[in-house]
Amino acid sequence: MSSQTKKIAVLQGDYIGPEIMHAGLKVLEAVSQKNDFEYEIESVPFGGEAIDKTGDPLPAETLKTCQQSDAVLLSAIGGPKWDNAKKRPEAGLLEIRKELNLFSNIRPTVITKAMKPYSPIKVKDDVDFVIVRELTSGIYFGTPRNKTADEAYDTMRYTADEIRRVAKVAFDMAMRRKKHVTMVDKANVLATSKFWREIVSDVAKDYPEVTYDNSYVDAMAMKIVSEPEKFDVILTENLFGDILSDESAEITGSLGTIPSMSMGNSGPALYEPIHGSAPDIAGLGIADPISMIKSVAMMLENSFDRPDMAKQINDAIDQTIADKVMTPDLGGHNSTDVVTDEIIKTITESSETYVTNNVR
Ligand code: NAD
Ligand code: IPM
Ligand code: MN
Repeated sequence: MSSQTKKIAVLQGDYIGPEIMHAGLKVLEAVSQKNDFEYEIESVPFGGEAIDKTGDPLPAETLKTCQQSDAVLLSAIGGPKWDNAKKRPEAGLLEIRKELNLFSNIRPTVITKAMKPYSPIKVKDDVDFVIVRELTSGIYFGTPRNKTADEAYDTMRYTADEIRRVAKVAFDMAMRRKKHVTMVDKANVLATSKFWREIVSDVAKDYPEVTYDNSYVDAMAMKIVSEPEKFDVILTENLFGDILSDESAEITGSLGTIPSMSMGNSGPALYEPIHGSAPDIAGLGIADPISMIKSVAMMLENSFDRPDMAKQINDAIDQTIADKVMTPDLGGHNSTDVVTDEIIKTITESSETYVTNNVR
């Protein structure tokens, strides 16, 4: 192993998880061969698979492997088999995000020309925005929380530092994009949202070139379908970001096509589709592999500084869709394997040379 060799921790997940991870790794292998990129993977149990093996969705060994890697690739975890487990797979997901301090989660929504026919909405101009979702605080992690026979409660809590650091990620990203940030909240009701507005408007002062506005989350849910082309960077807290990102994904044609990157200030970033383990289609061989393959592309670009390889993958995906080789979620009739092999064929046969242009 040379010092150039990148170490990738692989968490293959549950239900469709292993199916799409297999696709993602096949594409990684093909694009790496073409570009002489050296990597090694270590596959470790996580989520439901880890509960079955060890009783814990995030075993200490798995966390250690992730911490010692250059990047983490995850497919999706959870499902009915473990819905009543003492510690669910989802708890492991929250724990790994917290342990790796992955406080910002980047979820892109791009409707490429090839995908336009499959969008359920009328798309006028280019749609290209990213949601920057706070990932390690808010109501997901706040205490106290409890459930008794008579009542249940959760706590939404944010500190100024937690808001400031993710806001900076959003504004830095806007500087490299269309220089606009929209902060989404419920400041007409929630104390945490009022606090977010105070902190974020302060951060905005350091970015005079970036225009900044706010939207209430209910109105934003409407605007994502009525005027998605107006947005650039959408900054929001954990729960709102979870909900709005599934909605945003769907306007591209399918939830099964959207990747994500979760990162902190140091240490490995984690790449995963935004969707879940899709138990309803597991084992049928029809899961859309694009979300996972795009997660691989996002990893190559952002953790390994290979935007050229990421572009080869993304161009091949677009070409495959343009050729109507698609899984049923996009209205196609092809299997996961056929779509994956077509993407690989396009990568392998393409003779284009690419200019390196790091956009992150
Ligand atoms: P889901 O995202 O798994 O599925 C929602 C719908 O989208 C389903 O009809 C599914 O078939 C479809 N879908 C999702 N990905 C697809 C793909 N790649 N190709 C084709 N169709 C796809 O959401 P859910 O059913 O609410 O959750 C299932 C399980 O996944 C739950 O246990 C949930 O907690 C978990 N989950 C995990 C993650 C994660 O690992 N990051 C994310 C979301 C949900
Ligand atoms: C996601 C998922 C997770 C979340 C669940 C499975 C804990 O929905 O990654 O979007 O809510 O963050
Ligand atoms: Mn979600």
